[in-house]
This record gives sequence, C-alpha cells and structure tokens, in this order.
Amino acid sequence: MSLHQAVLANEVLEHLNIKENRNYIDVTFGQGGHSRLILQANGPEGKVLGIDWNPEAFEGAGSLKKDFPKRLTVKYGNFADLDELMKTEKRKNWDGILADLGWSMDEIKSSGRGLSFQIDEPLNMVYGNVESENAWDLVNKAPFEKLLMIFRDYGEERWAHRIATRIVEQRRLAKIDTTKQLADLVANSIPKRFHSHHIHPATRVFQALRIAVNHELENLERFLPQAKKYLKSGGRLVVISFHSLEDRIVKQAFRQWMKDGEGKVVTKKPVIAGAEELEKNRASRSAKLRVWEKG
Ligand SMILES: C[S@@+](CC[C@H](N)C(=O)[O-])C[C@H]1O[C@@H](n2cnc3c(N)ncnc32)[C@H](O)[C@@H]1O
Repeated sequence: MSLHQAVLANEVLEHLNIKENRNYIDVTFGQGGHSRLILQANGPEGKVLGIDWNPEAFEGAGSLKKDFPKRLTVKYGNFADLDELMKTEKRKNWDGILADLGWSMDEIKSSGRGLSFQIDEPLNMVYGNVESENAWDLVNKAPFEKLLMIFRDYGEERWAHRIATRIVEQRRLAKIDTTKQLADLVANSIPKRFHSHHIHPATRVFQALRIAVNHELENLERFLPQAKKYLKSGGRLVVISFHSLEDRIVKQAFRQWMKDGEGKVVTKKPVIAGAEELEKNRASRSAKLRVWEKG
C-alpha cells in the first residue's frame, strides 16, 4: 500500500487540459497516482507514457495496466535524457507532459539508500544509475566550501556554516557512515533553542544532499527544453516543484520561451494547494505548479 498521495490532483487534471483519447507523458510516474487520474479521464483510447528512474516505482504499474489495458507504457530512465527515451517511441507529438518533481514518500521512507534521517541506513542517496559522488563521498570528502554551498543554497539552511564546520572536524576523527550519525551531528550543531517544533533539525541538510547527489537542478534544466519539443501545438507542460530553486528554473524557462514567441505562460503565479489539501497532505505544503502552453 503506497504512502504517497498525488499532490494537486484536480489542478493537474485541469491544467493538463485532459480530453478523451488524447495522449500524455508522466515523467515522474512514482506510484502512478497522477497517471491513474489521467487514464481515468483520457479514455477510452488515450495513452499514457510513464517514466521514472526508480524501477521500484513501477511495482504498482501492473494493476494500472490491468485497469487500463493497452493504454499505459512505462519506461525506466532519467527525464533529463528524454530525447534518448523518446527514440523508441513512435509518437513524437503529445497533448501534455507532467513532471511532479522530487521524491515519493515511499522512496524517502524505504529506499534503503539513506534518503531519510528517520531511518538509520548507510549514507548513499544515489538514484537513476548516475555515475556520481554519493552522499557518503560528499559528507566525508568534499571540501568545506562545497558543503557550505550545498547546505546554504540547496538546503536554505541558516546554520550551514556551522554544520559544514562540524562535519569537517568530525570526519577527521572518524568517518560519518550512516544517516543517524549525520542527523545527530546536524542536530548537535544547531543550538537547541533554534530547533523547529515542526521539522527535524536535519531536514534541510538531507534535502540539500539529495539534490546535490542526484543533480536534481541540472536534470530539470536539461529536461525542460527537451519536453517542449514533444508537445503538439496547444499541448501543455505542467511542472510541480517543491523547492524555490526548482521553481525559479521553471519560471525562468517558461518566461524565456514566451519571449521567444514559442507559446504562452498559463500560470502567471504558481498554483498552490488549497486549504483542504493542505490539511490532508503535508507534502502539498511546498508544492508549486506552473503551466506552459505551446504555440
Ligand atoms: C513526487 S514523486 C511522483 C509521484 C507521482 N506523481 C504519483 O502521483 O504517484 C517523484 C517521482 O519522480 C522520480 N524522479 C525524480 N527525479 C527523476 C528524474 N530525474 N528522472 C526520472 N524520474 C525521477 C522519483 O523517483 C519519484 O518516483
């Protein structure tokens, strides 16, 4: 049973402008929450192509395939390599593309890769077969300045300097091998009176490391112009982001394309969750949805 609830579900359906027999790509298939809603709305012949870089994400796809025979295809891969993934697709023009960025609750809680400070696991965090430094490498080997940048810019952590200093001191004595060791070190670096009542003191540092290890901002930057190519005229690109740097990348790309005369920004301001959803789904608190329509 998935822990994940699709965020901004009604808003996604409305802004993708779902119509019967039209075709959509969901580049962050996850637990298939949004894909299921799209398939319910674009029947009887409309197709969905689901992409995800976590093969476990497709475990639930079997039941979706049964419920919507011949209408769902899933593909393993990084959405930053969309051109590559589309090479084997006959259809080159789609009615809409959805990206619901970040991680699902299931991945955070049970990835086995140390994504969460709540579960004691080896520090790793790597997704999508990227040949890159993992979280252990960064924490134990990256220069102080790099750690500082990651915590400050990606984590928007006000104690970034102090945390990076403590990490560099600690790792001279013994390596920081597990999520618990790191979470404790971060918590001890921030004076108790500044600990939030709402979030764990290590939340921002873990978010920052996930972004750095998986090149999340670069992936988004590479993905957006590729996605634009696979839309029909009038087709829509809908992106939900959870981080201010991601939202800025999306906002700037959409504005630039509008200036270039390639289409229009549908959402002048980002769409956010309403009171009812905020109450039910914590993940929706920081969700921002932006929409672009190809001319
Ligand atoms: C927030 S979840 C999506 C949940 C999904 N919309 C649902 O309703 O079930 C984000 C998903 O995108 C995947 N993902 C993140 N970055 C990716 C990338 N660069 N390429 C492909 N998949 C990615 C994650 O593995 C995760 O499954």
